[in-house]
This record gives sequence, structure tokens and C-alpha cells, in this order.
Amino acid sequence: MKFSMRLPRVLQGLLLTMLTAGAAYAADAGVDQTELIARGRYLAKAADCVACHTAPGGKPMAGGLPIDSPFGKIYASNITPSKTHGIGSYTEAQFARAVREGVNVQGQRLYPAMPYTSYAGTTDEDIRALYAYFLHDVEAVDTTPPPTTLAFPFNQRWLMIGWNLLFLDRGPFIPVEGKDAQWNRGKYLVDTLAHCGACHTPRNVLMAEKRSLAFSGGQVGPWRAPNITSDPVSGIGVWSVDELVQYMRNGAVEGKGQAAGGMAEAIQNSLQYLSTEDLTAIATYLKDSVPVRSSADTRPAFEYGDVDVDFEAGLRAVNTGIGYQAAGPGYPHLTTGAQLYSANCASCHQTTGRGTRGQAFPSLAHNTVLGRDNADNLVNVILDGLHIRVGDEERLMPGFKDALTDAQVAQLAAFVMQQYGNPTVTVDEARVKVLRQGGDDAGAPLRRLMEWSAIAAVIVLALLAAWWKRRRHR
Ligand code: HEC
Ligand code: HEC
Ligand code: HEC
Repeated sequence: MKFSMRLPRVLQGLLLTMLTAGAAYAADAGVDQTELIARGRYLAKAADCVACHTAPGGKPMAGGLPIDSPFGKIYASNITPSKTHGIGSYTEAQFARAVREGVNVQGQRLYPAMPYTSYAGTTDEDIRALYAYFLHDVEAVDTTPPPTTLAFPFNQRWLMIGWNLLFLDRGPFIPVEGKDAQWNRGKYLVDTLAHCGACHTPRNVLMAEKRSLAFSGGQVGPWRAPNITSDPVSGIGVWSVDELVQYMRNGAVEGKGQAAGGMAEAIQNSLQYLSTEDLTAIATYLKDSVPVRSSADTRPAFEYGDVDVDFEAGLRAVNTGIGYQAAGPGYPHLTTGAQLYSANCASCHQTTGRGTRGQAFPSLAHNTVLGRDNADNLVNVILDGLHIRVGDEERLMPGFKDALTDAQVAQLAAFVMQQYGNPTVTVDEARVKVLRQGGDDAGAPLRRLMEWSAIAAVIVLALLAAWWKRRRHR
């Protein structure tokens, strides 16, 4: 009796396993692969995989783009489905591990230049769609990107195990209870796929995002990614949801600002392709984010620039009755900020700084770039210019890197701030030099910490050796 009871149970178990496997197989075959791939393509856009995994002029996703880190260049991998050079032999689980945990198929730890700390929240469903897209819709490319060679100790990838213990939250995104579906969709996109914090959140000495100050402003090379918390003074609190959606879709909002640097890239490669529903979710979540205020800010950055004067008449030669006399200190030398502006900027932004009608060349007054407590992004855009393609529209501002010296850029930026922006901001030549060379050395504190740890380790080892020697001599 007992025996006969047991046998059916074993059989039952077997049957159940077969049934589950069968059902899963049927479900697999039932999911429309084309739809899955299309969803994966959309998610890859939202996550902007192409931005880092494509070298300038290179094939999409074939890697090779050097990403500047404070410790040297980190080359993005080939993530095309090439079996020999890319991720063609990855299983879905291995793909999930690389994207969410930063461990590749060889078991090597990836550097957080790959934003796996953000992607950690990706849901299983979205991983599945991304995997389908990468394996079946991206063209395989058989090339190997240059190897990443950082100096010791940063070349020790296993060190990331400790870093991950400190800074990597495991587990897919779980919706926050008490918040609606739109808010949660926004949080998922902002924190996970669109990794806004990778640029907009400040980092600690170990280069991890400071979660308690999320979105309160970060550093991307020389660029300052501004505070985008809900704070009405330092952040985007007084931007409307529609304005935020327009900024992400188009890169320009009249009376607020334009997008240059990494933001222009994020919009061009990624955000412009998101559905209005998703962009609205992002804006809704941001407007409800924890506000962070900087004491240096007294009014929203776009509020500066009320003085509406045309300074240029003062530069012109005046008729004194016995001939023309230059009003400025010598036109050919273009040494004052006003002269530099007149010569280099006024043709587009106009002598009033109000831009052209229709704002194809935008107003500098009421522009967030000019309302900060520093002129860094203004200097960056003067040096590098701006180039953005959205839809079938392209907007371009030339860079003046080669045309103007550091001293001229400083003088020009100071004038622009004085005339159209926050007049208390000063700009000096030394700052322009630092920005021209790529910005502050963000890795210096960590390198110093490492040096001190190394010195401490050497001292401990020396003391141990001395103690050991004395013990042996006794
Ligand atoms: C901000 C830049 C950046 C973005 C965005 C990015 N990656 Fe990466 N990724 C990297 C870098 C850099 C590496 C190499 C890291 C290293 O060598 O430690 C890498 C490595 C990888 C690897 C490991 C490949 C291997 O075999 O070693 C995979 C897989 C990967 N990325 C997938 C993705 C996917 C999928 C996306 C989009 C969802 C994405 N990445 C978005 C920078 C990025
Ligand atoms: C690659 C880095 C990077 C990423 C990723 C990024 N941003 Fe930005 N963002 C910037 C920079 C740099 C600026 C400043 C641009 C400028 O001054 O022209 C900026 C500007 C902005 C502004 C304008 C703020 C103002 O006061 O002018 C908003 C809004 C914004 N980002 C939202 C977002 C959101 C939302 C995301 C994620 C969906 C995001 N950004 C992702 C770098 C980034
Ligand atoms: C050939 C026309 C042209 C010239 C010359 C020009 N700009 Fe621009 N500028 C633009 C365009 C176009 C934009 C971006 C418009 C957009 O995205 O909607 C822009 C944007 C800007 C912005 C906003 C950037 C941001 O990060 O949001 C600033 C500030 C600026 N210009 C300052 C200057 C200064 C200072 C000069 C002189 C050194 C100058 N521009 C010369 C066309 C020009």
C-alpha cells in the first residue's frame, strides 16, 4: 500500500516537471519574437547602449569607444552577436549577469564605466527583450576593441568585488507602494534604464553615486550636469511637465535652456525616441523627487537676464564733426568682452542677447546656462560649440577653441555673464585652461587615498617584518 502510494507521487512529480517544461516551451514559442525584438530595440534606445558601445565612425555596438575615467581610458566592449568577438555565445543568464551585475562571461568584473549599478534594476522581462534584440537584430561585427590597460591597482578587476559589495544594489526594480503606475514607470526609467543619475548625481571619493544627494548635480568631464531635483530654486521644480518633456524630446525650451555636451548626446541617441507616455512619466517622477537646494542659489537659473540693452552702439566709431573717432579702446585688437561678443556671438545671438525671432538662435537671457553660480558650461559651449540632431532637424553652434585664447574666452564669458546672466559670477583664465584640458581631476582624491593606503600597507608590512626578525633573534 505504502509502495503504491509512493510511486504515483514520483510519477506525479515527473509529470508536473514535464508539464511545466512543456508549458514554458509553448509560451516561448507563443511569444511573438518580432514583438519581443521590437521591445528590446526600444529599451536599448532608452538605455542608450549605443552611446558607449559605438566608436566614432564605427559599426553600431562594435565597441572601441574610449571612455575617460580618472584612472585612464576604458574601452567599451563589442556587444554585437559575433560569436568570436562579441556576445554571440552569451546565454540570457550570462547577458543578465553582465548588464545587472557587471560580470562578463569570463567571470571578469566590469568597471562601472559600464553603468551596471543603474541597470541592476532592469526587470527580467526587459532583460529578455534586450537579449532577443541584441542576439537577433544587431549586426554581428568581428572586431576586437583595444584592450583597457589601467595602472596598478586599478587594473585589478577583482577589486570591484569589494566596490560592488558597497555600492551595487541587487535585484530588479520593485514598484513603490502608494505611488501610481506613471510615477513608478518614471522612477524605473530614470533610475534604471535611462541612468540619469550617472551624470546628474554627485559621486563620492570612491566614484560611486551619492544616493542621498540623487540628481542634485554631477560632473561629466568639464561639463556640469545640473541639479534636476524638484527643488524650485536649484532644480527643475518650476519647469512644467510639458517643458521637461519638450526638453528631453527636442533639446531646447524657450525661456529655459538648450542641451549641449552629454545631454545633447543623450537626447540625440536616446531620449528623443521615447514615447510621450514614457517622457511624461520621467518628468512626473522628477517633479516629485526629493528636493536638494544649494545655498549658493537664490533664484531659478533661467530667471537671470532682465537687463535689455544693446551695448553695441557704444563700440561704434562716433562722428565728432571733424571725422570718425573709435569709441572703444581700438577696434582691431578686440580685447574687451563686448568686442569679443560683437565679433563672435552677436551674429547669431544678437547684440541684445535675445536671440533671433523664433529662437533658432536662442536667447542668452533667461537661459539656465547663465544663471548658475559658475560659468563652466558657458565656457564649455564657447570652446566646443553645440551640435544636436533631433528628428530631421539639426542645430549647430561652432566651437571657438582654436579661434580664441584662454584669456579671451575668460573675458568673453565674464562679459556674457555680466550682460545676460548672473552678474556676480567671475571667470578667470586659469579656469578656462582647466576646462579646455577636460575639467578637474575627479580621480585625484581616490588616487591619494590609494597612495595613502599603499603607504600604510608598506608601514604595516615593515613593522611586521621587524617584529618577526626580533622574534627569530630571541
Ligand atoms: C556609459 C557607457 C555605457 C553604456 C550606456 C552601456 N555600456 Fe556596456 N560597457 C561599457 C564599458 C566601458 C564596458 C567595458 C567595461 C570593462 O572593460 O570593464 C561595457 C561592457 C559591457 C558588456 C560586457 C561585454 C564583455 O563581454 O565583456 C556587456 C554585455 C554590455 N556592456 C552590455 C551593455 C548593454 C546591453 C547596454 C545597454 C542596456 C550597455 N552595455 C550600455 C559602457 C557602457
Ligand atoms: C551623459 C550625461 C547625462 C545623462 C545620461 C543625462 N544628462 Fe541631463 N544633462 C547633462 C548635462 C551635461 C546637462 C547640461 C547641458 C547644458 O548645459 O547644455 C544636462 C541638462 C539637463 C537638464 C536641463 C537642466 C537645466 O537646468 O538646464 C535636464 C532637465 C536634464 N538634463 C534631465 C535629464 C534626465 C531626465 C536624464 C535621464 C533621462 C538625463 N538628463 C540624463 C548630462 C546628462
Ligand atoms: C552660427 C551661430 C552661432 C554663433 C556664432 C554662436 N552661437 Fe551660441 N548657439 C547657437 C545655437 C544654434 C545654439 C543652440 C540652439 C538650440 O539647441 O536650440 C546655441 C546655444 C548657445 C548657448 C546655450 C548652450 C547650452 O549649453 O544650453 C550659449 C550659452 C551660447 N550659445 C553662447 C554663445 C556665445 C557666447 C557665442 C560667441 C562665442 C555663441 N554662442 C556663438 C548658435 C550660435
